[in-house]
Amino acid sequence: MDTMSFGYAEYDPAQIAHNETLFTLANGYLGLRGDFEETQGTYHKGTYINGFYDSEPILYGERAYGFAENHETILNLPDPKRIELEVGSLPFSMKSGVVNTSSRYLNYKTGILTRIVDWTSSQGDRVKITTERMVSFTDKHCALISYTVEAVDTDLLIRLTSFLDIGVRNRSSKDDPRVGSKFTSNPLVILNHSIENEALNFSARTRNSALNLYGSAVHTTSKGASQITPSEPDLALSYTFSLAKGECVTLNKYVAYTTEDDSAPFRARKCAQEGFASYAQEQEQFLSDFWSVARILIEGDEMTEQALQFNIFHLLQACGRDGTSSMAAKGLTGEGYEGHYFWDTEAYALPMFCYLKADIAKSLLDYRYRILDKARLRAKTMSLKGALFPWRTISGEECSAYYPAGTAQYHIDADILYAVEKYLAATGETAPPAYVEMAIESARMWLSLGCFIDGEFCINEVTGPDEYTACVNNNAYTNLMAQNNLAFAIALVESYQQQGKILPLVLEKDELSSWKQAQEAMRIPFDKGLGIYEQDDSFLKKAPWPFDTTPQDKHPLLLHFHPLVIYRHRVLKQPDLVLAQFFLSGLFTKAERRRNFSFYEPYTTGDSSLSYCIQSIMASDSFQSLKAWTYFKKTVRLDIDDIQGNSADGIHTASMAGSWMAVVYGFAGFRDWKGTFSFDPKLPTAWKALTFCLTLRNAVLKVELRPSEVTYTLMTGKEVALVHRNVSCSLKEGESRTFSLVPKLGGVLFDLDGVLCDTAHLHYKAWKQVSDENLLHFDREVNKGLLGVSREASLQVILDHNNVDWPHEKRTEVLKRKNDAYVASLDSITGEDLFPGVLGLLSELKSQGVKIGLASASKNARTVCEKLGILDRFDAIADITRVQKPKPEPDIFLAASEQIGVWYTDCVGVEDAKAGIEAIKRAGMQAVGIGSEGELPGSDVVLKSTEELTLDVLKRVVQKI
Ligand code: G6P
Ligand code: MG
Repeated sequence: MDTMSFGYAEYDPAQIAHNETLFTLANGYLGLRGDFEETQGTYHKGTYINGFYDSEPILYGERAYGFAENHETILNLPDPKRIELEVGSLPFSMKSGVVNTSSRYLNYKTGILTRIVDWTSSQGDRVKITTERMVSFTDKHCALISYTVEAVDTDLLIRLTSFLDIGVRNRSSKDDPRVGSKFTSNPLVILNHSIENEALNFSARTRNSALNLYGSAVHTTSKGASQITPSEPDLALSYTFSLAKGECVTLNKYVAYTTEDDSAPFRARKCAQEGFASYAQEQEQFLSDFWSVARILIEGDEMTEQALQFNIFHLLQACGRDGTSSMAAKGLTGEGYEGHYFWDTEAYALPMFCYLKADIAKSLLDYRYRILDKARLRAKTMSLKGALFPWRTISGEECSAYYPAGTAQYHIDADILYAVEKYLAATGETAPPAYVEMAIESARMWLSLGCFIDGEFCINEVTGPDEYTACVNNNAYTNLMAQNNLAFAIALVESYQQQGKILPLVLEKDELSSWKQAQEAMRIPFDKGLGIYEQDDSFLKKAPWPFDTTPQDKHPLLLHFHPLVIYRHRVLKQPDLVLAQFFLSGLFTKAERRRNFSFYEPYTTGDSSLSYCIQSIMASDSFQSLKAWTYFKKTVRLDIDDIQGNSADGIHTASMAGSWMAVVYGFAGFRDWKGTFSFDPKLPTAWKALTFCLTLRNAVLKVELRPSEVTYTLMTGKEVALVHRNVSCSLKEGESRTFSLVPKLGGVLFDLDGVLCDTAHLHYKAWKQVSDENLLHFDREVNKGLLGVSREASLQVILDHNNVDWPHEKRTEVLKRKNDAYVASLDSITGEDLFPGVLGLLSELKSQGVKIGLASASKNARTVCEKLGILDRFDAIADITRVQKPKPEPDIFLAASEQIGVWYTDCVGVEDAKAGIEAIKRAGMQAVGIGSEGELPGSDVVLKSTEELTLDVLKRVVQKI
């Protein structure tokens, strides 16, 4: 299978609309949808220029101050692809005559779309048609089409009519808010058109945005035409040829569209002079340079490899590269979302470009700087200081008519600045004044948007990434990202000041300190009980969405329920807090990230195409490889397989970029937190190998991942520093480092009570004593539920069992009494109380270089170890008071593994309690249960007592054999 091309060898009329999107060719500026040359049998003929739009006032039934004024819509331009063929006197179309064979391939290496059709007209005339189409990456104004017809069985008279079809229009909107334009009249006025010397020319201007467009198509033919007929009104040229049997004729069409000046005719002529072959060669060179870094190889899964290259290729086609445009959510493949730019660019696509082709990332950021003045105006309208970037736009003006899922998504500012930060860290460039200016203006926006309430900096009435929750107070994503935005702005300003550089804007006297105060006091809603960050102040007070009673045909929810119905429920369109934990990974422990992912997952519908890729990355991050794989599968072929059912309206660029992220950030576990490049690879079991490259500060790093090892090679560039898992290393040009990924026993993390010693019965006795004192029923059976469980939670179990509830003070008092009783009983403890075999095992582990950690839920663990005389046996004792959540959450085990410096995959946990086993498994480790088989579900091995625990058992457990 050729994974560097995509196409079909059999024609399926049901796929016409979908294929038009998939076969789009574009160069970031000019986009030609993949519709057929002929009109009949096409779904929607589309030709676009990135950022070329017209606008009209938004018609509101009810409007209020500050609502977005105008909508902007990318325009469908005169169609330069259109070429009609007549064979005999019958028009060729896929809908008439007989299609003998039909194939179509988009080649990512050449950037050429090839179509071959063998067709017999209803009169029995057979032709073979071969068309090749290219939109030049090296000459952004130009597109080239070659159209070849062969007379297969007989001599034939054929006619080729080539158009610059000025009759095309945008699609009009239906019920789906995501599709179609709302223009009241034709937005593009054709000013002039002419036919001269086999060239078609037009000039046009938009009604309201006053943008100019010039188009030209120059033709050459491989043999003389018996007749050439111009048709002025249609802006078309007809060529008649008589072909002998077996003879071919090729019509070449050289197209140029310009918007900055009227050079289109000149450019089209120049393109024709250079010819198809020369353009094709340049195109191939450009793409060869791109793929030398961007190529991803997957051994054992060609379908996915092909889909990934397809996605990467489409992203390359979608992104503006001249600093004046960005990436429309649908690229240049269709009119969905009106050709608007959203945060998709910075949050999803930009990371990929930072590491594959940084000049594109820079260009995308330059576009944001270009619209900074409009963002300043928008901030003013919104009674804010600084600059507020638009949620959706083309020109820079806010175009979202629905502010709850538009302007309220203030996080766009932080997303853009996060992207700036990433770009600078990835390339190692120092911040130019333009980016510092954006950072200052965004910081000002946050300061004026939020306010101090009870000592906390609160940002109220905002919408986070999850558009199923709107206009809430203190959306955690927004606040975390705003906090990061402020920290970044502070760092940039301070670095400028330290270097004596002049800041692009003058800061007021206390401005910097006020940013610091806000940043430090930022409210990040956190629920102690659940140990999770609340999506916002109200999230946990909402009823969960009734998924059980929502039929499948009522999804996606946004098309079947009023927004208010959705908003009043606990339901997510896409990851919100979980996305923040990906972007700001270094702020959270592994345990936290896993816990929050697991908490939010059941409420996350995935109704947004931006959802699954992030879910996949965070499932990988949460040691849930199978889940990561399942989500990945839903994202990587989202457009190819039309998973959302709307690819006909355009590709889903964010999801495509997300599929790259799911491979690199997900499976390879790449992180770039504050400029440190790290990897934590987890190859999907379906793959034999994964190879990809990243450009890190001008150096190209190749990562080759196999099930048993990973190799990092510095292909070009002086030196690069990276971290594999928890090992730092640095590579010089040509140097490689290989790390084994085969789990190898490196550390054992012991629970204490019931594993190393018999203190469990002392806990029991103490609980029994306080239970009796308080007339509560408590016995050995109830005690089973207390094993491994924190003191506070243990009391709750007893109270629940007795159906009583106590006030806080009473609980504190009884907890103290229980602990006093327990601690008193510890007096009697000596080394004698260690379980048999423990000392020998600990010595053996030490002698074999295996690290030993203690992961007990007991606050008395250190005292107990002291009494047992084994304190010095541990490389680390994780402190339960310093982790966020007790068992069954994984915190204590992950903390212990970090403290002994052994990667979690090389650790084994040993536990006697159900909650403990669960904690070990949630920590992504192998678990040895001490006790009886049935009572410790999830254990990888259960032993009756610690005496049976040997080095050999531990080794086998970690290796899963
Ligand atoms: C261990 C025991 C539990 C106990 C917990 C807290 O996990 O198995 O029974 O409740 O530690 O102990 P502490 O000494 O802090 O009360
Ligand atoms: Mg225990």
